[in-house]
Amino acid sequence: MNYKDTYARSMEDPEGFWAEAAAEIDWYKPWDKVLDDSNKPFYRWFAGAELNTCYNSLDRHVENGRGDQLALIHDSPVTDSQTKLTYTELRDAVAKFAGLLKAQGVEKGDRVIVYMPMIPEAAVAMLACARLGAIHSVVFGGFASKELATRINDAKPKVIVSASCGIEGKRVIEYKPLLDEAIEISEHKPEKTVVFQRPQATASMQEGRDIDWASGAAAADPAECVPVAATDPLYILYTSGTTGVPKGVVRDNGGHAVAMKWSMKNIYNVDPGDVFWAASDVGWVVGHSYIVYAPLLHGCTTIMFEGKPVGTPDPGAFWRVISEHNVRVMFTAPTAFRAIKREDPDADYLKKYDMSKFEALFLAGERCDPDTLEWAQNTLKVPVIDHWWQTETGWGIAANCMGIEELPVKAGSPTCSVPGYDVQILDENGNEEAAGEIGRIMIKLPMPPGCLPTLWQNDERYLDSYLSAQEGYYLTGDAGYKDEDGYLWIMSRIDDIINVAGHRLSTGGMEEVLSSHPDVAECGVIGAADQLKGELPVGLVVLKAGVDRPEDEIIAELVSLVRQKIGPVAAFKKVVIVERLPKTRSGKILRGTMKKIADGQEYKMPATIDDPVILDEITEALLRIGYAQKH
Ligand code: COA
Ligand code: AMP
Repeated sequence: MNYKDTYARSMEDPEGFWAEAAAEIDWYKPWDKVLDDSNKPFYRWFAGAELNTCYNSLDRHVENGRGDQLALIHDSPVTDSQTKLTYTELRDAVAKFAGLLKAQGVEKGDRVIVYMPMIPEAAVAMLACARLGAIHSVVFGGFASKELATRINDAKPKVIVSASCGIEGKRVIEYKPLLDEAIEISEHKPEKTVVFQRPQATASMQEGRDIDWASGAAAADPAECVPVAATDPLYILYTSGTTGVPKGVVRDNGGHAVAMKWSMKNIYNVDPGDVFWAASDVGWVVGHSYIVYAPLLHGCTTIMFEGKPVGTPDPGAFWRVISEHNVRVMFTAPTAFRAIKREDPDADYLKKYDMSKFEALFLAGERCDPDTLEWAQNTLKVPVIDHWWQTETGWGIAANCMGIEELPVKAGSPTCSVPGYDVQILDENGNEEAAGEIGRIMIKLPMPPGCLPTLWQNDERYLDSYLSAQEGYYLTGDAGYKDEDGYLWIMSRIDDIINVAGHRLSTGGMEEVLSSHPDVAECGVIGAADQLKGELPVGLVVLKAGVDRPEDEIIAELVSLVRQKIGPVAAFKKVVIVERLPKTRSGKILRGTMKKIADGQEYKMPATIDDPVILDEITEALLRIGYAQKH
């Protein structure tokens, strides 16, 4: 069936459509109802059914003859090592680790935080939780202790799983001191931690609380898969919201498994047995969905890459991995390709590698600029597919569904709505915009399986943040338009979220940190355009009257405060001190206008501005730190 008919069928008969897809999953108990809509606007997929996500990801493949096939390849240029695990080996490692967790009292519904670098044990920990019906919450390693503590307080984990260190390029980053500090400052205290000791650093262990992974798992009895309800949570993944308090996106077991499995063939066009590589991090949704769950549910070999596109050791790293492991389809963020293009514009490194098995590159996480798209197309000579999604949905909302029908690519657009998603562009009154007109991008409820059913123990925030803008619709937070061919164009966010190297960050969260500095009276953080990372945060800070310390000193303190409170991933390095900030008469800081100034774009004088002269001062200040250049 072509794209148009498949999409139409998913809209006309969603229950039939997804019930068919659900036949690809092994269930202990079938559903009573494919879509339970008895408690609108909360929808539940496969209500009444029971399954186990780990069983579907590992055990059933072993039982069906895939036991000797590689399930996971850990390729780590930063430690100069590779680890390969077959489905049988991965299942056994997961069963043992689940046994360790079980011996610590972890049961169905308990939360386990996973704060780990990109090592196979991170996937083992996630799958072990799934095996027990426990709910994992992975926290990205680039977040600092305070961010980890916020998540500990919200998720209230029984156990935290971590490792002695991560490796960033040539630097060894010790995780355990960060973990200890997070537990120290958090109100909720986990009963135990399990720490994987890597040879690059040895974590000091707290007697009675910290368990050594290796000896603990060796001594554990393997645990069996525990049946859970399709509607039970599989994981919580915290993502930036409009304040410093992250949102705990909940993913259910049943809808997630069905959507993940379906997407592998229909969107990415890969088959069981193929090698699939998502170059991301397990701390992000891309890592959850496409390093761990989807490729394993589909019986693929997944690659976990502990390295960077450049510098580990050179801009040929991606090509090496693709050719060495026979990758068929790869997925990463455009920023990675911008990094490669910058260091090796003529792709000389590519000439060293045999890329004949490689069929398609998928990009997501931020808007893919046409230059990067075209460079990737011309260099790789395979389809390069931009697709659009977010932590909340867990999988593609708009894509060129390569397994259904390859549509013509329009550079700058992630193509059309994926079957199951009724994406509409609405104006302020809730009416659909005409083709070409920009509006709020919304998804008509119900969303397809796999999308968030709610926020962790916070139905109210879920309703407020996503469902209150327009009755019957989910607010994506993105603005854009549909063209006359139905292609979507994602143009900007309507909130304070910025996208730095494919990482989603809240400028509101950074402002909270800057405001906590004793010398700061007020501040605004904007996402200024950056050639490599897409956007970079820039802080504009007004000091309290009477502060006469050197500006450089204060700026250095502010930079290190954000690094300490949010983490290095914020990439917050640019601050400028200004006399005052531009505001509306009602006192709202004009961040949008400041962003336009920083990017050297034309801007309209806001009608409600308090004092227009301030904009000249802002322009001068931004020029001093290399922004606001006219193009
Ligand atoms: N643990 C500790 N620190 C981390 C970290 C981790 N897991 N991940 C990143 N950091 C640190 C980095 O070392 C860097 O620190 P620095 O300021 O001391 O240099 C900082 O956080 C910013 O990291 P990042 O944004 O990744 O920048 P980078 O300069 O190291 O690399 C890219 C830039 C473009 C090469 C890299 O971001 C990349 O490959 N991105 C594409 C893939 C991707 O991650 N996509 C995510 C969603 S699909
Ligand atoms: P995250 O939740 O971290 O995956 O970030 C989701 C946000 O990233 C989306 O709401 C968009 O703002 C942006 N985004 C992701 N993919 C794309 C894309 N292909 N094109 C444009 N923006 C994107």
